[in-house]
Amino acid sequence: MRLTDDIQKILYTEEEIQARIREIGAELAQAFDGRNPLVVGVLKGAAPFMADLVRRMDIALEMDYMIVSSYGKATKTSGVVKIIKDLDFEIGGRDVIIVEDIIDSGLTLKYLTDLLLRRAPRSLTIVTLLDKPHHRQVELQPDIVGFEIPDEFVVGYGLDYAEKYRNLPFVGILKSKIYAGH
Ligand code: IMP
Ligand code: MG
Repeated sequence: MRLTDDIQKILYTEEEIQARIREIGAELAQAFDGRNPLVVGVLKGAAPFMADLVRRMDIALEMDYMIVSSYGKATKTSGVVKIIKDLDFEIGGRDVIIVEDIIDSGLTLKYLTDLLLRRAPRSLTIVTLLDKPHHRQVELQPDIVGFEIPDEFVVGYGLDYAEKYRNLPFVGILKSKIYAGH
């Protein structure tokens, strides 16, 4: 049984994703050259994006991770956010770059950015691979968006459905029978 058999349609191929990441990496490297930014990945979804992105930033930087959880395994966010793992580093006076897989309602990242802004970083930049701007419940504008996507549930390249499909190298839409079985 191949994981790709569950995919109805590929939205962004591995090549398209990597090409966009090269552009974003170059942009960030130029903007933060000499500033030793702290690049913060939001686990688990942002792990593949983060890993590829920092390797396209040819500048000194540091990496950290946060684990936040919206309760449950459903396809919809509950709006309740729990910090499972906070940053290892202090961010006061530093340039912080948050790396996310996707912004949907915006609730998760709104909570996270409000929390980090209270620690008075020098700057806070939000980078997301995917953005579903039509589904916002709170005002939240990412600084850099890889791809703007329609209001559809996607998997792959870090994004999961019930913890599955994160390891696909592309972003795609699941066959409807996958949901129907649950
Ligand atoms: P938000 O709080 O609604 O912006 O949702 C953020 C989180 O919901 C993401 O980090 C994902 O874990 C999850 N999520 C939202 N949309 C999708 C999707 O289309 N596929 C997989 N996970 C998603
Ligand atoms: Mg998820």
